[in-house]
Amino acid sequence: MITWGCQMNVYDSARMTDVLRPLGYAPVESASDADMIILNTCHIRDRAAEKVFSELGRLRLIKEERKADGRPTVLAVAGCVAQAEGEQILKRAPYVDIVLGPQTYHRLPEMVARAARAGGSVIDTDFPAEQKFDFLPEVAAPQTQGNVTAFLTVQEGCDKFCSFCVVPYTRGAEASRAVASVLAEARRMAESGVREITLLGQNVNAYHGEGPDGRIWGLARLAEALSSIPGLARIRYTTSHPRDMGDDLIAAHRDLPALMPFLHLPVQSGSDTILKAMNRGHTADEYRSLVEKLRTARPDIALSSDFIVGHPGETDEDFEATMALIRDVGFAQAYSFKYSIRPGTPAAGAPRQIAEAVKDDRLQALQALLREQQDAFNASVVGLTAPVLFTGRGRKPGQMVGRSPWLQPVHVDGPDTLIGVERPVRLDARFSNSLAGTLVKECAPT
Ligand code: 5AD
Ligand code: SF4
Repeated sequence: MITWGCQMNVYDSARMTDVLRPLGYAPVESASDADMIILNTCHIRDRAAEKVFSELGRLRLIKEERKADGRPTVLAVAGCVAQAEGEQILKRAPYVDIVLGPQTYHRLPEMVARAARAGGSVIDTDFPAEQKFDFLPEVAAPQTQGNVTAFLTVQEGCDKFCSFCVVPYTRGAEASRAVASVLAEARRMAESGVREITLLGQNVNAYHGEGPDGRIWGLARLAEALSSIPGLARIRYTTSHPRDMGDDLIAAHRDLPALMPFLHLPVQSGSDTILKAMNRGHTADEYRSLVEKLRTARPDIALSSDFIVGHPGETDEDFEATMALIRDVGFAQAYSFKYSIRPGTPAAGAPRQIAEAVKDDRLQALQALLREQQDAFNASVVGLTAPVLFTGRGRKPGQMVGRSPWLQPVHVDGPDTLIGVERPVRLDARFSNSLAGTLVKECAPT
């Protein structure tokens, strides 16, 4: 399994591994040892299709070498590039056996059988009416065995159609998984030792799953139900859209201690003109007031975001408005990108595309500011005592690593028995991407 792209793909790869397990497949480290190779692709980044074809060229050699040794290999391409390019993949890379989109992973065993029978290629990039969620095996994902943190997909797809984005075309319309199924998976995860769950969805806060009471539940209600599962100490969710950040979810940040004070809430731009051109459905000031509401509800909440510079039509003033928004809000962390054309999306054909050199300059300025803010945020927690959930051993002997509430890795000296435990830690120092701390003695009950 070769996984590129977002956490959703990481989760999907784990689920594909699950559905293949009954057929006798198990993960291996190296492609040359694999009877089946699945390349799980991502379409968000620039020249995504080209990268897939070049990787396929490499995998083809492995497949041929193995064949010469009498060991056949099933080669499959999954994920968003498979969804978008479909037939094109089989045309340009006829040695690929299976092409499957993100909506059809539960049919993978059937495809493997069909590919073996037909001796030819199988393509399945439907958006089937059935919910793929309903067909995935109800077993505790073995990947989570022994893990303290895990992802759980609760929602897929997107109806927002931002001007620049392929997701609505590759992942299809928004769909939410039923509450009972989410809770059952979360319980199994907790029983296997998971203490922190990150709920995943392209538009996770648009979650609207069918509840056991027959009503539609939003994410706030789902989080509340999850927070009462024994053993589950922490809940996170990603990625959220500002438009779907309802008052109930904001209130949940105030009322549910398990909901961690860190929120990835992409804004993309701080210019109203560009936000409109992007079809984001809110203004820069609406984003500012949303942040204010969140901080009122949960004063220690830290924010993260995605930014795009150089969207078609972005002037110097528009870019300055983005810089102003960043200064006003103050982000703990962020991802930023130069706009790049995705064929078939509205922005691809828009006039006033921005020169590469201008995008480069803007990205540099934006990233310098964001880096400053990230450093300032990390510095601001030094001296605090905060709960750290320990996830494993650090690199140095006797060192353990855990996560702060704000998703920073924290190193402390301590015993292995800390794994899976949340303990107060005094945060002593910061490095570029992590913190160092000391365990604080918990008061013995008297
Ligand atoms: N160009 C640049 N960045 C993009 N993203 C999505 N599509 C594009 C594109 N065409 C970024 C957005 C999104 C993140 C996952 O990737 O910022 O939030
Ligand atoms: Fe893409 Fe916009 Fe949907 Fe996010 S909200 S997945 S950027 S279309």
